[in-house]
Amino acid sequence: MPNRSNAKQDLVWFAAQVKPLLRHQILSILLIASSSLMFLLDPLVLKWMVDVVLPSRDGRLLTLAVVGLLIIYACRLGLFSVGRIINFRSIQQLAFGMRLQLLDKINRLSADFHEAMPIGEKLYRVEQDVDQVAQFGSFVPRLLQTLFNLLFVVLAMALLNFRLLFVVVPLLLVGVCIAARYQRRLRMSSEAAQERGGLQSSFLQDHLASVIQVQLLNRESGQTDTFRELAGARMDAVNQRNRVEVFFGTWYMAAIAVGTLAVLGYGGQQVFAGALSIGGLIAFYTYLARLFDPLYSTVDIYAQFTRVQASISRILDITERVPSVRDCAHAVTLPRQNTGAVRLIDVTFAYPMRPPVLSHLTLDIPAGEKIALVGMSGSGKSTIAKLIARLYDAQQGTVQVNGADVQNAKLKSLRANVCLLMQDTILFDRSLNENLLLACPDATNEQLQKALEAVELADLVARLPHGWYARVGARGSRLSGGERQKVALARALLQKPAVLLLDEATSALDAPSEQRILHNLSQHLPSQTIVFISHRISSFYWVDQIVVLHQGVIQEQGTHNELIGKGGMYARLARMGSLSDEPSAPPRESALPPPHLSMRAD
Ligand SMILES: Nc1ncnc2c1ncn2[C@@H]1O[C@H](COP(=O)(O)OP(=O)(O)OP(=O)(O)O)[C@@H](O)[C@H]1O
Ligand SMILES: [Mg+2]
Repeated sequence: MPNRSNAKQDLVWFAAQVKPLLRHQILSILLIASSSLMFLLDPLVLKWMVDVVLPSRDGRLLTLAVVGLLIIYACRLGLFSVGRIINFRSIQQLAFGMRLQLLDKINRLSADFHEAMPIGEKLYRVEQDVDQVAQFGSFVPRLLQTLFNLLFVVLAMALLNFRLLFVVVPLLLVGVCIAARYQRRLRMSSEAAQERGGLQSSFLQDHLASVIQVQLLNRESGQTDTFRELAGARMDAVNQRNRVEVFFGTWYMAAIAVGTLAVLGYGGQQVFAGALSIGGLIAFYTYLARLFDPLYSTVDIYAQFTRVQASISRILDITERVPSVRDCAHAVTLPRQNTGAVRLIDVTFAYPMRPPVLSHLTLDIPAGEKIALVGMSGSGKSTIAKLIARLYDAQQGTVQVNGADVQNAKLKSLRANVCLLMQDTILFDRSLNENLLLACPDATNEQLQKALEAVELADLVARLPHGWYARVGARGSRLSGGERQKVALARALLQKPAVLLLDEATSALDAPSEQRILHNLSQHLPSQTIVFISHRISSFYWVDQIVVLHQGVIQEQGTHNELIGKGGMYARLARMGSLSDEPSAPPRESALPPPHLSMRAD
């Protein structure tokens, strides 16, 4: 939860969002002012009826009064309706603009933000919080109407009886005092309710995405208990907020009720003294009742604003963030290349609030080499890949691609040259075709077909009812884990990046398929640099170089034969790997190194 609570800053931001709409709303404001004027007229007609028309017993005058009231009501309704239509459009416009702004920022924020904030929390901010704030945008015309009404009603009251107005003024002061007293409690209870809402939404997001897993783990009741706790906490927080709002409103209305009694008592005396007519007292009372409306609206708007402030804070918590990885002022565009030399020089890196993962690591990957990065879980392999793709910046040292410090390269140009595929391939719920074209929208059908063949997906696509126009389901759920990985590999093939980082990107494939596909991949990308990260190290004995990482430090480095001969960590891992991963009877040809690589080794 953000801990910013600068109300002035929130207001400034909110005003900036509403400002462009206000310009379009001049018409609406004029309508509002006119409808407020209409608001002023009918008590005066009522006064005229009581003081003049009724005592005169003149039917024509009575008809005139009724027709006058009819015209007033019709105009008020018309103006009000048009004003509301304009208002609804503004709310949608406001939500649309804020959502785009928020999504744009989320898209630019770096991996540290995305890895720290749950999806449900982000979703809550983009949907619920934005809606809350946009709804509040409609309060701007309402606030203006309230102010106009207040002004006109007070003016009319002053004209009717100036002294009586002074009985009303303390009402306003009492109202301000009550609002000041409740401000902090209202805001705190609103923030608590929204925070709990965010937690509940995060949990639901996680849970609904993994209901099948939950069933397989027999954890349904445990998950329901957790939800009960979270939803209960949210319900308590919302009840508490509503209680505070009701108390606030009650105190406010009580003050107004006491004021009304005072006005009626004092007004009655003014009538006895002849300073006010009966019609005047009735008109004054009607105005007083109408003063309640704007006053209560003010209270309501105020309560809403405290609620909305919590939403604004949560939106600003995102929009004000600065991406930790961003283009520096003098960033240069990396030219699009076919190959990439990668160097990590004396790199030290730690995730936020964690001990260092890599310490003074130096690694040289010559252009075009195929290397394997192996090591125990948690040794820092993925972290190295993330630093090369610049998902994070190293705290110390330099990461270079083709001689350029990645921190001085424009991110867009770096990502065009460096492609990182992770184990969990996320596909979008679109067609296979669209998923493939994401990285290379101009690819021809022939190129697509070749890529599909290289990753052994062509047969599957031929069998699908709509071929490569078949939708892949939410997050690619209509494909198997291995097929999802194949789609990602085909996408990378189409992209042909200078540096391809495969972080366990073939882990869901069976060993023979993996061998064949890696072979195809190396053939299709002969000049590209490829870094394979894998636990199945038996698949990578043919690569140019194997780097063994242990607790963030390079333990060994060399070819398969060199490292086996050394009898160190790699030899031990290879022995274990061959026990656990090698298929019992591997097909002869799949055990052979890819032809061009074996030639190079010669
Ligand atoms: N986003 C993160 N925030 C904090 N710590 C992290 C984060 N990602 C990884 N770590 C920690 O950094 C260390 C290195 O993680 P890394 O993912 O690089 O290991 P790895 O070698 O890829 O492991 P594996 O083989 O299991 O994938 C681990 O101790 C891990 O807990
Ligand atoms: Mg990893």
